[in-house]
Amino acid sequence: MKTSKIRKIWIAANWKMNHTQSECDKFFQNFNETFKTLNIPETIQIAFFPNFLSLSYCQNKFKNKSLHFGSQNTHFEKKGAFTGEISSEMLREIDINLSLVGHSERRQYFGETNSTTFKRTNHLLAEGFTVIHCIGESKEERLNLQTNSILQKQIEEGFPPKEQLTKETASRFCIAYEPVWAIGTGLTATVEQVKEAHSTIRSLLIQRYGADIANQISLLYGGSVTPENFKAILNLEDVDGGLVGGASLKPESFLKLVQIALEG
Ligand code: PGA
Repeated sequence: MKTSKIRKIWIAANWKMNHTQSECDKFFQNFNETFKTLNIPETIQIAFFPNFLSLSYCQNKFKNKSLHFGSQNTHFEKKGAFTGEISSEMLREIDINLSLVGHSERRQYFGETNSTTFKRTNHLLAEGFTVIHCIGESKEERLNLQTNSILQKQIEEGFPPKEQLTKETASRFCIAYEPVWAIGTGLTATVEQVKEAHSTIRSLLIQRYGADIANQISLLYGGSVTPENFKAILNLEDVDGGLVGGASLKPESFLKLVQIALEG
């Protein structure tokens, strides 16, 4: 088990628009056979983000003290005329208090902006949720050497203001650095690129919130994580876990990622 990490480690499965309820059954039948034999310490959080129909189903059927379920997206208003959206209150009623915010696919296809991520994260933290807020540059932005300025803009415009983040709320605020060009493409960022981006983000967090608060915030990497590349990434000082798409859909490969986190 990792002992060198000061923050919680997240191994988070973003299932996107995959896995019907019967496919979730198959996944967990297989996954749980091995998972139930593992001893998951409280410092490691294993989380799944299924589609909304499967979310409530999985929460009822498979949640346990070591398996957490969360929403892929949550609206920033409590209720109202927002067709197609889901509220924190609806999630809380089924005992869910974890949500992704601002995934690049939400930004790319569904009009998510830094300003809407700002509203979502503030609302969810105020409602007692744990949030994994996604940021990252596009391929074009990286090629134009704009990675740092894009990260800075996403943080300045999308993250909670200093006065809103106490040590307690900061421990419920996680960030996933997901370079858009690495998501679902098989092109993982190199260890060097992850190290550089995570250290830039950590410095920006320290500037914005002060070291005490900034050091509470878990910083995950996402983008073509596999059992082959994860160990080297997770070993980096400033990496506190992974947000995983493709490799989380099969029990075997996701279990390997869990085992890497346990081995440390
Ligand atoms: P990927 O997706 O692992 O398939 O690249 C990661 C994500 O979108 O969170």
